[in-house]
Amino acid sequence: MPAPDQQLTEPVMGPAEALSELFTPAGKHHPYPLYDALWELGPVIPLGPSGTLVLGYDEVCTALRDPRFLVTDAAVHQATGMIDHSSWQCFTKIMMFSNPPDHERMRRFSRWAYSPGQVAEQRQLAVKAAERWTAHLADLDDGGPLDLVEAFATRVPVAVTGELLGIPEADQMELRTAITATTTAFEPIFDRAELLPADAGMDVLVGYLEDLVRERRRRPGDDLVSAMVRDRDADGALSEEELVSSLVMFLIAGVQSPSDLIGNTVRLALEHPAEGHGMTTDDDLVSAFITETLRFDPPNHVLTRAAETDIDFYGHRVVAGSRALLVLAAANRDPRRFTAPATFDITRKDIRPLSFGLGPHYCLGAAFARMQVEVAVPILLRRFPRMALAGAPTYRDQLVTRGFARMDVTLGP
Ligand code: HEM
Repeated sequence: MPAPDQQLTEPVMGPAEALSELFTPAGKHHPYPLYDALWELGPVIPLGPSGTLVLGYDEVCTALRDPRFLVTDAAVHQATGMIDHSSWQCFTKIMMFSNPPDHERMRRFSRWAYSPGQVAEQRQLAVKAAERWTAHLADLDDGGPLDLVEAFATRVPVAVTGELLGIPEADQMELRTAITATTTAFEPIFDRAELLPADAGMDVLVGYLEDLVRERRRRPGDDLVSAMVRDRDADGALSEEELVSSLVMFLIAGVQSPSDLIGNTVRLALEHPAEGHGMTTDDDLVSAFITETLRFDPPNHVLTRAAETDIDFYGHRVVAGSRALLVLAAANRDPRRFTAPATFDITRKDIRPLSFGLGPHYCLGAAFARMQVEVAVPILLRRFPRMALAGAPTYRDQLVTRGFARMDVTLGP
């Protein structure tokens, strides 16, 4: 049995202190001890009239399946004034931030793009990208530390999603900076100025995809943008703005969380070398390793819902209009559901982490994302069997979409 990850598990403070610490830079960097401290208050924690924090596995599942817990859509962002920001103008036109009936309409429109047949085709792109960027790492290697986030973890999803959308390689990495910036809009916002980086990133992405849509409408190609333009023009199921926003979403979701999951998986492989090495030869082990990574250290820690009406929730009253913060990363470590939850253990059976959500908004790209990681990580570890961490990775200042800013490694002889 592997040893618990001490660094991530020591309880450090009382629940009240933990709550105020959670959204500070230090808390986002190191949230697991705070979840442990908060757990002392129970699986559902009322935060006053404005919100409820949900940490328990069953409780998060219930909220995600309950249609009275709405996603924060255009009406919600209208009320807070956030919709005046270009980031939320775009996000509120996609399915992830839409409620019925718009949600079903959008999900139906895009579903084919995520089908098993598509994912099988996309696998070839992932193999090509992973081989290319491992070769790139070998070219860069001078024996010293290299940032694996910059040189590999982001490159593979950027290349795969860029190629699917028909984005020329020269533009892909430039868009990558804008993609990460947009995801900061998902963090709790205390001052609207905090949205400015996300707005700037969104302006870049929307401008780029508007041009691409115009271009593909004129000269269709063999890519997802051309196919979605054709479908929209045939049945009018989406408005033009919704089409562009859906493509922006595909680009952001296609790159950020898969890149973060590659980072988390490689780090855990280097910290658990026996299991990590097993991934180079055993496909079943790859799958188990990634599922356990998704449980133990997922790329998305928190989902937000807004109560449509007053809800009696496990003995607590969730007031209409208030927010419920569903902490997926804490639910994945619920001690009632998982034995020794702070232990990374790839032999667990039937664990079903909540990292791709659940219910009507369950991640459409889950199979696509997993496939990229299943392909990329074993190719990397086979090529560099002596790779090692060169210091502790650092995190971006984000909790909702959480991942490494930098992970220095040495590739070995
Ligand atoms: C490791 C990678 C990924 C993780 C951890 C992840 C996680 C999630 C989660 C937690 C949700 C639920 C949101 C909610 O209920 O509010 C979600 C929804 C979604 N994801 Fe992913 N995702 C990943 C990759 C992808 C990829 C690669 C795509 C597509 C390119 C994608 C597209 C979507 C879409 C379209 C939705 C919205 C579904 C809906 O609202 O009906 N995701 N994702």
